[in-house]
Amino acid sequence: MVDIYESVHRRSIEDPEGFWGEAAENIDWNRKWDKVLDDSDKPYYHWFTGGELNTCYNALDRHVENGHGDRNALIYDSPITGNSDTYTYSRLLDEVSRFAGVLAGLGVAKGDRVVIYMPMIPQAVIAMLACARLGAVHSVVFGGFAANELAVRINDATPKVLVSASCGIEPARVVAYKPLLDAAIDIAKHKPSHTVIFQRPQAEATMVSGRDVDWEEAMTSASSVQCVPVAATDPLYVLYTSGTTGEPKGVVRDNGGHAVALNWTMKNIYNVDPGDVFWAASDVGWVVGHSYIVYAPLFAGCTTVVYEGKPVGTPDAGAFWRVISEHNVRCLFTAPTAFRAIKKEDPKGDLLKDYDISCLETLFLAGERTDPDTLHWAQEKLNVPVIDHWWQTETGWAICANCMGIEALPVKDGSPTKPAPGWDLKVLDEGGNELPRGQIGALVAKLPLPPGTFPTLWNARQRHFDSYLREYEGYYSTSDAGIIDEDGYAFIMSRTDDIINVAGHRLSTGAMEEVLADHPEVAECAVTGVADPLKGQAPLGLLVLNAGSAIDPDQVVKDVVRMVRERIGPVAAFKKALVVSRLPKTRSGKILRATIRNIADGEDWKMPATIDDPAILDEITEALEKAGFASTRDKTSNPSNSEN
Ligand code: COA
Ligand code: AMP
Repeated sequence: MVDIYESVHRRSIEDPEGFWGEAAENIDWNRKWDKVLDDSDKPYYHWFTGGELNTCYNALDRHVENGHGDRNALIYDSPITGNSDTYTYSRLLDEVSRFAGVLAGLGVAKGDRVVIYMPMIPQAVIAMLACARLGAVHSVVFGGFAANELAVRINDATPKVLVSASCGIEPARVVAYKPLLDAAIDIAKHKPSHTVIFQRPQAEATMVSGRDVDWEEAMTSASSVQCVPVAATDPLYVLYTSGTTGEPKGVVRDNGGHAVALNWTMKNIYNVDPGDVFWAASDVGWVVGHSYIVYAPLFAGCTTVVYEGKPVGTPDAGAFWRVISEHNVRCLFTAPTAFRAIKKEDPKGDLLKDYDISCLETLFLAGERTDPDTLHWAQEKLNVPVIDHWWQTETGWAICANCMGIEALPVKDGSPTKPAPGWDLKVLDEGGNELPRGQIGALVAKLPLPPGTFPTLWNARQRHFDSYLREYEGYYSTSDAGIIDEDGYAFIMSRTDDIINVAGHRLSTGAMEEVLADHPEVAECAVTGVADPLKGQAPLGLLVLNAGSAIDPDQVVKDVVRMVRERIGPVAAFKKALVVSRLPKTRSGKILRATIRNIADGEDWKMPATIDDPAILDEITEALEKAGFASTRDKTSNPSNSEN
């Protein structure tokens, strides 16, 4: 029997230039590349050097020129406002070209940055594509981040223009964006010269004369702008993601490799064809939104769905089934947390009976590990293959996946299957030696990474090297630990840094600790991610107050919860903190965060041999139990504990 996946994967590793050179033929170039893979700057690799193209042209113009102008490009479905709209490729091209005219009129040109802070409305996609059309670099900031986080990104990206809407809409409240935007510009050192605001009736924004431009008004007089060719290696966007400190990392995506790889994934990973409806139920503020709400479906000539709603509550747990049946969705991509939310509200899947979802062929899940309960529930209720796939903001597309367009492999519970073509995945020990199959270690990918990943971090080449390339020479370090089993299936077990994953959102516990430490009564603190049945993980803070502090500890807890919401944003979902007398530490002063997490999660844990003061763990256990967390005790001293 021919093992198709194995042979495709082998070829991608043994002959990357042939493999990706062929895939690049499906993209339209203004100038063909000189080299598919340029390795003259090791350990930095560049794809398609010498090539020139325009990303927006490949997403829109070429489909219209090829006679598909009447095909649907984008369906906007907003149960939260009761609105919906459909854009054909021709209409989307017209609006994008005119919005590019608006931006050009405000002085935006090739290489300039534009920050986009938008809810899930078509204008967010239009703004992104308009930047791409001009060769400008967009940086989209998720709407659930607070003004301070937006300001940090404005300072780093130094945009000429900021594009936003007057508000976003959450089930329980209208989130007025404009005051957040104004506050962010006030806080930021860098001041963009203009903002463009899309007014929504739910909360009209007050405009600053001379600086703020009304989207609709500007569009009425704007003239269309043609695509500006850029180098394959020029940046298309910067997307900030959590690092281990409060300073986010600006992941850079280039134009050429991105278009080639994402276009390739649509058939080979997701098994969809031009004209199919592809729905990524995520947000344009995350990498999944960039890759699979905006760019990949449009490169491939599919119809993308922009959904402004939630899996539950808009209006009920049948919302996803309605969208699938109404819009004829062939492939759905979301995070496991969305399915946990649906399962919680409608465990028997009764609402499925109201809809015909026979159009759905596959469900893809990512953002966090798909737990077997959720996997089985989705398999049983939807009766389609449920595919867990593993990726990161940095990688832009899947590192491991069951490539449905190549060969559908058997699914193993808890595994995102095998490395996608282009990914040479290994498990290494601390010394950088490859571990035998079945043993847990650091998951790394041998360089070069495939196209569509990230050539660098914005303004931070050294940080890029230090964070990803320094530890294991010749490899990209994923910061995930895991296993590759006897059959070559990967299992992603945990992050090796202080990143946590809350409802599929990546958050830095270090950033939260920085906020907590700013409270005048807090002497010391630790934040760790504890198990949460809906969100996967939820942040939990431990606080040590100043000696002799007379303040009510409950008040400090309320203060820090409010501070995290104000400074990082509601998306941090920081709701719980406990006041304790000391933090558990090793004798060298390292806080034992994993032990705290294990106690809170009720997992077996070992007394770390190097703990400074074992008695503190009794107090922590008691405090956690009182606060409703589980705990299982095993005080055996264990020199092999990872926190020694
Ligand atoms: N703008 C402003 N606030 C936002 C926001 C946005 N775009 N998105 C979320 N928030 C707020 C929420 O309203 C919530 O505020 P609250 O504390 O006042 O309730 C807070 O941020 C936390 O949001 P979230 O973690 O999403 O929790 P939730 O309880 O609102 O919803 C789920 C839980 C599972 C329904 C939701 O996370 C979800 O739909 N996830 C789908 C998966 C997904 O989008 N993953 C992204 C990567 S694929
Ligand atoms: P983000 O950059 O927000 O996409 O988050 C990336 C991190 O989420 C990864 O490093 C993993 O820790 C986790 N992650 C994403 N997808 C999966 C998956 N399918 N299985 C396990 N972990 C995942």
